[in-house]
Amino acid sequence: MTGAFPPGFLWGAATAAHQVEGGNVNNHYWEWEHAEHSPFAEPSGDACDSYHRWREDLDLVADAGLTAYRFSIEWSRIEPEEGEVSRAAVDHYRRIVDGCRDRGLTPLVTLSHFTTPRWFHRDGSWQGPNAGDRFARFTELALPILEDAAYVVTINEPNLMACLPVLGRMGAQGEPIHGLPKPDQALTDALLSAHCRSMDVLRSAGPFAAGLTLVGQEYLAEDGGEEQVAAYRGAMEDQFFDVAKGDDFVGMQIYSCTHIGPEGPRAGVDSEPTLAFMERRPQALGAAITRAAEMVPGVPLVVTENGLATADDDDRIRFTADALRSLAEAIAAGADVRGYTHWSLLDNFEWMDGYRPTFGLVAVDRTTFARTPKPSLAWLGEVARRNGLAG
Ligand code: BGC
Repeated sequence: MTGAFPPGFLWGAATAAHQVEGGNVNNHYWEWEHAEHSPFAEPSGDACDSYHRWREDLDLVADAGLTAYRFSIEWSRIEPEEGEVSRAAVDHYRRIVDGCRDRGLTPLVTLSHFTTPRWFHRDGSWQGPNAGDRFARFTELALPILEDAAYVVTINEPNLMACLPVLGRMGAQGEPIHGLPKPDQALTDALLSAHCRSMDVLRSAGPFAAGLTLVGQEYLAEDGGEEQVAAYRGAMEDQFFDVAKGDDFVGMQIYSCTHIGPEGPRAGVDSEPTLAFMERRPQALGAAITRAAEMVPGVPLVVTENGLATADDDDRIRFTADALRSLAEAIAAGADVRGYTHWSLLDNFEWMDGYRPTFGLVAVDRTTFARTPKPSLAWLGEVARRNGLAG
């Protein structure tokens, strides 16, 4: 079995607004990137200029033979001040959805991919007053964009977002950081409640499928680490799966693994760290999908992100082939997976690490923004045409 996929399986590439658009001056990441003593390697700046070059991006996806495109909309452009709506920004994103459909691409749209408007952030962010009302209202504002989307994601990786304050505290105290810590519970609760408020709006709109995405990983227990694995999974995954059980789908984003011993995650990785400082572990995809399928029985899954930060595109192909083989095995064993959108279409702004980690199927010249497809783009297009891996 080398990996055949169910009929109608979606094959695509993914991006996120702040990582590719450029000039997102009105969100809280832009503020962080420019703060004194900012931990960011560099600011996002013009990113890939996709706010203007999105047509070219969609052409690349469609011409390669892929069938889906995942992107996110930028709240700070749509609602630059609380209650002030930019119709032009709504129209812009609506045109991208139409642009996908015109090219035969199935659109997957994310409402919130880490960034929030400065006014929202200043006022307590997800734990601020009326955060749920505010996100529900933004969801309503976005409905004209979403009408022809196939999948709508409320919040990207709330389980990773809820780790950020914990990581910040650990960093400030000089504690060593190995893998992801357990998320902050108050922030987890706030994010999940905002997700539910957004879902209420989306459910009454349809006909798209709506849900959230989670960062998933393979948890590897070292001797005596089994209880800790259960505790980490409980905090990082299970409480999120519990809420997502009633959703239309769950998006899973899987890159790597964490080794957990009796004291918690251990230092070091078992491979040369990737450019994003993760362990190279393609089979984590199948492992994490198998567990997700057990946790949300009856709820379809979509792999909304998976990929490798490497300068070696042959290795991206090898990694992705191995990851997809493990995914095909999980599907053969019963997981209901509807699609795979590779992270990422473009070499883009990798948050704190700036532009150094290259996840793209397409290289982007940092001065001219010229796009140069890498062999992995054509390779993934072939996988899509075949709906499976070669021989
Ligand atoms: C995020 C992306 C990020 C990718 C690679 C995911 O957690 O959704 O925004 O670029 O991982 O680190």
